[in-house]
Amino acid sequence: MDLIDYADAEMMMIDLANVLAGELGEALSHKDTVTLAVPGGTTPGPIFDNLCAVDLDWGRVRVMLTDERWVPETSDRSNTRLLRQRLLTGRAAAATLVPLYADGGTAEEMLPALSAAIAPDLPLDVVLLGMGADMHTASIFPGADRLHHALYGDDILVPMRAPGAPEPRITLSAKVLRDAIRRHIVITGAAKREALERARHLTPEEAPVAAVLAGSTIHWAE
Ligand code: 6PG
Repeated sequence: MDLIDYADAEMMMIDLANVLAGELGEALSHKDTVTLAVPGGTTPGPIFDNLCAVDLDWGRVRVMLTDERWVPETSDRSNTRLLRQRLLTGRAAAATLVPLYADGGTAEEMLPALSAAIAPDLPLDVVLLGMGADMHTASIFPGADRLHHALYGDDILVPMRAPGAPEPRITLSAKVLRDAIRRHIVITGAAKREALERARHLTPEEAPVAAVLAGSTIHWAE
C-alpha cells in the first residue's frame, strides 16, 4: 500500500482528478471502452468537479459506483444522484452510467440484471474507493449481514444490510475491487487516518478496508 500525504485537501482533489484522468487516458489508448468506479458519500464531490472538466474521450468511458444506497434517485441519499450532478456533467456528460440501482424491487430482486450489465466491464480499469471511520469501504461494513460473502465470494455485487448503514445497500464485492487494474482510496481527516493505520493490523472482518489495501494507493489530506 502506498500512501500519499497531501498538504492540502483542495490540492489533493485536483491532483487525484488528474491521476484518474491520466489512468483513464492511458487505458483508452489501448481499449475501446474503459470503466471507472467511484464512491458516493461526502468526500469525492470536489474530485468529480475537477474530473468532469477534463478533456477525455468520455464517450468511451463507462462510469459506475462502487456501492449504492437502495433509495430512488429522488432521494438526497442517492449516490447515483450525486454522480449525475457532479461527475456526469460538463465534458463527462458523454460518459455512460452503469447503474447500481433500479426502481421496482429490492436489491436482491434487481441483482441479476445489475450484475449482468457489469460483467462485460470486468476487470474494472480504474477504481476509486472511500472509507468510513468504522473502516468500511464501498458498502462492505463491519457487522453486515453478508460480510463474509462480500469479502470472500465470487459474485460481482452483494446486497448488504448493516448496523452502520441507515438503508439497505448494494456493493461491488471485494473480489471485483481487488481485481481492478488501478485502485485508489481517498480519505480526509485525522480520524480516518488513524482508522486506516488500525485497519492494517486487523482482519477484513474487523476492518473491511483491509481486504483492498494491498495494491491500493491511499490519498490523504487533513
Ligand atoms: C457511501 C459510500 C461509502 C463512502 C464512505 C465514506 O455510499 O456512503 O460509497 O463507501 O465512501 O462511507 O463516506 P464519506 O466520504 O461520506 O465519509
